[in-house]
Amino acid sequence: MMKGTMFSLDERLALCASFVRNDTRLVDVGTDHAYLPIWLALNGRIRSAVACDVRVGPLENAAANIRSYHVEHIVSIVLSDGLNNIDPDAALDIVVAGMGGELIADIITRQQWLCDTRRRLILQPMTKAESLRFFLCSSGFQIIQEKACVSGKKSYSVMMCEYDGQKRDCTDIFRYIGDLENEHSYEAERYIGTVKEKLQKKLRAYRPGDDEHTRLLSVISHIESLPFSFIGVK
Ligand SMILES: C[S@@+](CC[C@H](N)C(=O)[O-])C[C@H]1O[C@@H](n2cnc3c(N)ncnc32)[C@H](O)[C@@H]1O
Repeated sequence: MMKGTMFSLDERLALCASFVRNDTRLVDVGTDHAYLPIWLALNGRIRSAVACDVRVGPLENAAANIRSYHVEHIVSIVLSDGLNNIDPDAALDIVVAGMGGELIADIITRQQWLCDTRRRLILQPMTKAESLRFFLCSSGFQIIQEKACVSGKKSYSVMMCEYDGQKRDCTDIFRYIGDLENEHSYEAERYIGTVKEKLQKKLRAYRPGDDEHTRLLSVISHIESLPFSFIGVK
């Protein structure tokens, strides 16, 4: 990206940005380069942002980018493992992107103050999205909206979540593809197609008749029964 001028986010971070509420107080957990909070600040979308990371190197990178885009008055940096060192008053919308689903769930579990209907979580798991969906369902967080995107050659999913205290059953299908089958987009179909390929590989580790084999097979069969219109997944 060109230093000091406006820039575009890639599709993955752009989708995360689209779920951030206007004029919010944002925390970007695991910010690395801090492109997301910088872009939101440059576009007048947020009141403030804390860009945090557990490692000093990425945080120095973030600080340099924040200075070159002259948004120090809006975006500050904090060294923090997850949200451990974050003031809850600074965190109305919280983005956790580019990490594994289990780590994201762990970061959320550690902060009781996230169980608050006023806050919004925007989560983009790189792996184990199924563990994250299961955690959210069983911990009282509702996935208000989930959308998929394609960036480079890969597909990603981004979840917008809010706490309502209601614990939900998480079916096997929801665990693996959320509500993406109802999104009816090319991106969602690409994401679901990738899930199906992963499940087919996983299936080989089990013998027909094993509980896990039956479970995985029923999710694969469901995916194969979907009336995809943008791509073929069969
Ligand atoms: C792949 S980068 C993602 C950067 C950016 N969020 C994105 O999606 O493009 C992951 C970042 O998360 C940071 N990270 C890993 N574990 C963390 C934790 N427990 N707390 C805060 N940051 C963490 C890493 O240091 C790294 O900078």
